[in-house]
Amino acid sequence: MTRLICVTSGKGGVGKTTLVSNLASAVTKLDKKVMVIDGNVTTPNIGFHLNMPVAPVTLHDVMRGNARIRDAVYRHDAGFYVLPAGISFDEMKGVDPAVLSEVVANLDGTMDMILVDSAAGLGREAQSAMDATSEIILVTNPDLPSVADALKTIRIVQNKGKKIAGVVLNRVKNHRHEMTKQEIEDMLSVPIAAEIPEDVNVAVSIAARKPVIQTHPRSPASEEITRLAHSLIGLHYQKRNPGIITRIFSAIFD
Ligand SMILES: Nc1ncnc2c1ncn2[C@@H]1O[C@H](COP(=O)(O)OP(=O)(O)O)[C@@H](O)[C@H]1O
Ligand SMILES: [Mg+2]
Repeated sequence: MTRLICVTSGKGGVGKTTLVSNLASAVTKLDKKVMVIDGNVTTPNIGFHLNMPVAPVTLHDVMRGNARIRDAVYRHDAGFYVLPAGISFDEMKGVDPAVLSEVVANLDGTMDMILVDSAAGLGREAQSAMDATSEIILVTNPDLPSVADALKTIRIVQNKGKKIAGVVLNRVKNHRHEMTKQEIEDMLSVPIAAEIPEDVNVAVSIAARKPVIQTHPRSPASEEITRLAHSLIGLHYQKRNPGIITRIFSAIFD
């Protein structure tokens, strides 16, 4: 059985693409067959996170009926599969985002997990990514604007009858002005599945065009994403305590 999971958010820029590329890497390390689909079809960017920005055949070609799915699937060196979107906006003119559901349905059964990187917001593109999957991971930052937008997304997800696999708090700095985990759970009425800390290694890894799980597997963000990967597939993960060097770096960059 394939877990079909859409990673979405109400507000943009909260860390969806970063989570998708890293979760794919972390779940692959657990001997699972994983595929990432760039469901962000008008502003795709997962290719930049994974060092494959210009693929010869893309999801756009498949959605326009010009290519077979298998010709648009690539293997990342971290071991998971990627179905990238084309980077030209013009290519998507006249293509119905709802066709994504057919593409995902065709891949059902070929993988253990398919992660769809979604557009932010409540628009047609984001909704198509939700419609194509059965479970949703909702990413938010611990501030009121992103949590308020997350709440709107939860209403849509519930109306669609989809399962919320988890809410992920990203870029947690533990500053006094941040919303606490409890406040966010009270507002959303959904449990928080992971709290990924603000971690300078994430930006370093994106500049290197690799998942932080690959570049800094023991960094605080990688540890929490690894824990989330375990819990998604029903395994327990005992986090390592951060070493002294990590703690000093975290203190400096906080
Ligand atoms: N845990 C984190 N710590 C530090 N920076 C982060 C973290 N998660 C994401 N970022 C930064 O936030 C930016 C936006 O992330 P991205 O995954 O592109 O968001 P989205 O896909 O939701 O638009 C990235 O450039 C990345 O550098
Ligand atoms: Mg993104």
